[in-house]
Amino acid sequence: MSQIKAFLFDLDGVIVDTAIYHYQAWKRLANELGFDISVEFNEGLKGVSRMESLDLILAHGGLTLSGEKKNELAAQKNEWYLELVSRMNSDDILPGVATFFSQVRKAGLQTALGSVSKNAPLILERIGMTEAFDAIIDGTKISKGKPDPEVFTKGAEELEVNPNECVVFEDAVAGVEAGKRAGMFVVGLGAAHVLIQADLVALSLENLTVQEVLSKAE
Ligand code: G6P
Ligand code: MG
Repeated sequence: MSQIKAFLFDLDGVIVDTAIYHYQAWKRLANELGFDISVEFNEGLKGVSRMESLDLILAHGGLTLSGEKKNELAAQKNEWYLELVSRMNSDDILPGVATFFSQVRKAGLQTALGSVSKNAPLILERIGMTEAFDAIIDGTKISKGKPDPEVFTKGAEELEVNPNECVVFEDAVAGVEAGKRAGMFVVGLGAAHVLIQADLVALSLENLTVQEVLSKAE
């Protein structure tokens, strides 16, 4: 047990609902390749890097493709994803986020973003939340995606806090695992039967208060 100093947030599915756009773009790609991906299959893609997601999708469809073709498909998916994201603004911030962040500041906690997405800075700009984070770790700053703990370990390093002084907020199975492997207290946002490794589960930030999280984590 230790004094909590920082909250580390995933982006997609925690701050903003881009998880649905990643799913739509991957589904479109799979459909063009002649197969489909379900909502359940998509759970396993959340928090997983772009190329690793593509590998999982191709394996699901029974396809083996060259590196060149895979780069082409990943670029195509990202183009479709960016089309969807380009329409986003602050209205797309998930319910409860603004209130939760004002409580975080009042409690004197530091904040970091821990996202595997290379598009994370762009999305933060679009929704006007860049300034809400003391450190931003995105897909361009890491070499290993979730469930590897690197994204959260780097966030703690940048904030100059110890892992056991951090709480991670995650909607993905891979992200919850990453937070646990980093040695942090993990709040899972979503269904308890999916996020079984999390220390605490709530449906979304709207269903939590900072005090409640601190009292469970400390
Ligand atoms: C997040 C999302 C994943 C996505 C990954 C890479 O972790 O949850 O669905 O594949 O970022 O995103 P990018 O924007 O770099 O393709
Ligand atoms: Mg997520």
